[in-house]
Amino acid sequence: MIKLIKPYISFNEVKNEYEEIFDSGWFTKGKFVEAFRNEIKNYTGAKYAYLTTSATTALTMALKALKIRAGDEVIISDFSFPATANVVEEIGAIPIFADVSLETYNMRPEELENKITSKTKAVIFVDALGNPSGIHKIKEICQKYNIPLIEDGACAIGSSENGVKCGNIADFTCFSFHPRKLLTTGEGGAITFNNDNYVEFFDIKLNHGAKLENGKFDFVDFGYNYRLPELQCVMGIKQFQKLDQIVASRNEMKIQYKRALEVLGYKIQKLSINVIHNVQSLVFVVPKEINRDKLVKYLKGKGIESTIGTYCLSNTSYYAHKYNDMQVNAKYLEKTTITLPCHDDVDVMYITTQLKEYK
Ligand SMILES: Cc1ncc(COP(=O)(O)O)c(C=O)c1O
Repeated sequence: MIKLIKPYISFNEVKNEYEEIFDSGWFTKGKFVEAFRNEIKNYTGAKYAYLTTSATTALTMALKALKIRAGDEVIISDFSFPATANVVEEIGAIPIFADVSLETYNMRPEELENKITSKTKAVIFVDALGNPSGIHKIKEICQKYNIPLIEDGACAIGSSENGVKCGNIADFTCFSFHPRKLLTTGEGGAITFNNDNYVEFFDIKLNHGAKLENGKFDFVDFGYNYRLPELQCVMGIKQFQKLDQIVASRNEMKIQYKRALEVLGYKIQKLSINVIHNVQSLVFVVPKEINRDKLVKYLKGKGIESTIGTYCLSNTSYYAHKYNDMQVNAKYLEKTTITLPCHDDVDVMYITTQLKEYK
C-alpha cells in the first residue's frame, strides 16, 4: 500500500539522545524540551513558544489566555478538522462558521466581516491543509475591529505568507505534531506568540497553576499538565533540522502531480501570491463527473491510500444539529476534495496513471 504520509524520522536519528535520556533518568522538563522550544522560536521567528500535548490543547489554551467565556462568539473557518470547533464548544462559547474560498479553502474576508458582532471575542483562521493564503488580510480585518486572531496552524509548520512564517503572524498560532503532520512527535503541539503580557499566564497555567516565588513554588491558580516529554522533543528537534528540505521536496512532487492531473480536470488547492505552502496534504477537487468516494475505493484497490480533503464543520452531525448553519463552499469541498500520497516513497507516475485510467 502506498501510504498517504511517511514520517520523516528514523530511530537511528534519535537513538544517541534516547540513550542519554534513559541513562540520566531525566524524562521531562529537561534540556530537550528547552531545545525544542528554541527551535520553534528560531524557525518561526516568534518570541515565545510553549509546548502542549496537541494542537487541540494549544487552541484551548489560546482561548483561555484570551478569557473567552460561555456565550462569547468565536468565528472559525468552516473547512477544518473538528478540533477547531470543539475547543470553542468545550468552553461554552459559540462557534460561528465562516465559509471558505473554493480556491484556497481558507476563510473568506467578506464572510468574516459579515459575521462580526458585538459578541465576537476571537477569530480562528485555519491554514487549510497547511496553506496560509489570505491570513494577512484576515489579520487586517481583526485589527480593524480589535478582535484577537488565533491561527489554527495545526497543519502549517514550514509555511509562510509575505515572507512571514506561520507562528509569527497571528496573536497566537497553534501547531500539531500528530503523525499526519510534516513534523511529528507521535502526538504533540505548540503555541507561539509575541505578546509579553501572556508569558506569566502560560508559565503558571501550563505548570499546574504553580508560580516560583523566593525559590518556593506556590499554587497561585488552578492549572494543567499538557507537557511534552523529553523523548518526544528529541524527535521534534531532529525534524526541524530538515524541515525546509522536506517542504522543498513536497513542492517538487506537487508540481509533478499538478502537471499530470490538471489536464484530466483535477483542480489543485490554490495559493495566494507570496505563499510558501508546506504541502502538508496534497489536495485536489476531483472533476465534476467523478464521485470522490468511489475514487478513494478504486485507488485503495490499486494499493494507493487516499482520503477526503477535510471536513465541513457545520455539516458534521453534532454542529449541524445544534447550530443548523451549514456553509455552502465548505460542504462542496468536503464532498469533492481528495488527498493523495506525497512523500519520498511515492511513485507519482504510477498514481497519476491509475487516475488517468479511472472511468
Ligand atoms: C486544522 C486542524 N486543527 C486542529 C487539529 C487537531 O490537532 P491535534 O491532533 O494535534 O490535536 C487538526 C488535526 O488534524 C487539524 O487538522
